[in-house]
Amino acid sequence: MFEKNNQVNKVALIGTGFVGSSYAFALINQGSVNELLMIDINEKKAQGDVKDLNHGKVFAPNPMHIRSGTYGDCTDMDIVVICAGANQKPGETRLDLVEKNLKIFKTIVDQVMKSGFDGIFLVATNPVDILTYATWKFSGLPKERVIGSGTILDTARFRYSLGEYFNVAPRNVHAYIIGEHGDSELPVYSSASVGTVPVSKLIEKNEQYNKADLDTIFTKTRDAAYEIIESKGATYYGIAMGLVRITNAIFKNENSILTISAHLDGEYGNNHVYAGVPAVINRKGIREIIEIDLNDEEQRLFNNSVNVLKDILAPYFE
Ligand code: LAC
Repeated sequence: MFEKNNQVNKVALIGTGFVGSSYAFALINQGSVNELLMIDINEKKAQGDVKDLNHGKVFAPNPMHIRSGTYGDCTDMDIVVICAGANQKPGETRLDLVEKNLKIFKTIVDQVMKSGFDGIFLVATNPVDILTYATWKFSGLPKERVIGSGTILDTARFRYSLGEYFNVAPRNVHAYIIGEHGDSELPVYSSASVGTVPVSKLIEKNEQYNKADLDTIFTKTRDAAYEIIESKGATYYGIAMGLVRITNAIFKNENSILTISAHLDGEYGNNHVYAGVPAVINRKGIREIIEIDLNDEEQRLFNNSVNVLKDILAPYFE
């Protein structure tokens, strides 16, 4: 078995649909995993994906052992990534998927835990904040080892659009989307910056920039998935790359700050919920949640977003 500095990075992927198979494809091309186990309710599909990916291995930067299997094979996996479940159809919101996906998750998480799995769950299926909370509850694992993709993709979309607007690389735009990965999410403009220059100062000093444009950039970020679903039926490349980003931060013990869905235990004045917040990610999962300053309006919108999530959770979890 190929071992990178004696560490064998093992991932089990549950759900090899558009998002899951795109995640697997991105993983092999970035070479950050040594072993990938692919599980799907449609075993033939999983086996086909395994064959297809194995044929590309010769082009991959690092060797990677790829196989299909069952929940019982998750025992010694480091990360179990869940992409299984129903996805949004045109006109559906992410929250419309709760009922059917909670049932699917109960079965999946129970089966994985029966294997003796004791690693990190990474959840991508929508509504991701609700299903990450459910995974934490169903698994009984400590909250730092149950992570949702949260607003990692929203933040990436936001940084891409702000980069286009200010004509700088997205990596030099420091701005977060937080809250529900969905219609109630919010931008944190009060602490956004380009390089180390606050966005508020850029607006003040340059008349070609204005607040109305920033508001448009946010609404296009928030509604991006609807547009893509309308045009191609689903979104998968962006979220798959976001999942690989989180996977790399874990396996490389990066202590990187990513806006993922984390369990709030008083942070941002809220608790008993999973929501998108900046958090430090390393080999143990979530090291800590970073509490950035919010102005009054941002705090109000964050509380509203948390309440949207809590209202959805209430009928299912006391
Ligand atoms: C999106 C899906 C991942 O925002 O919810 O594209």
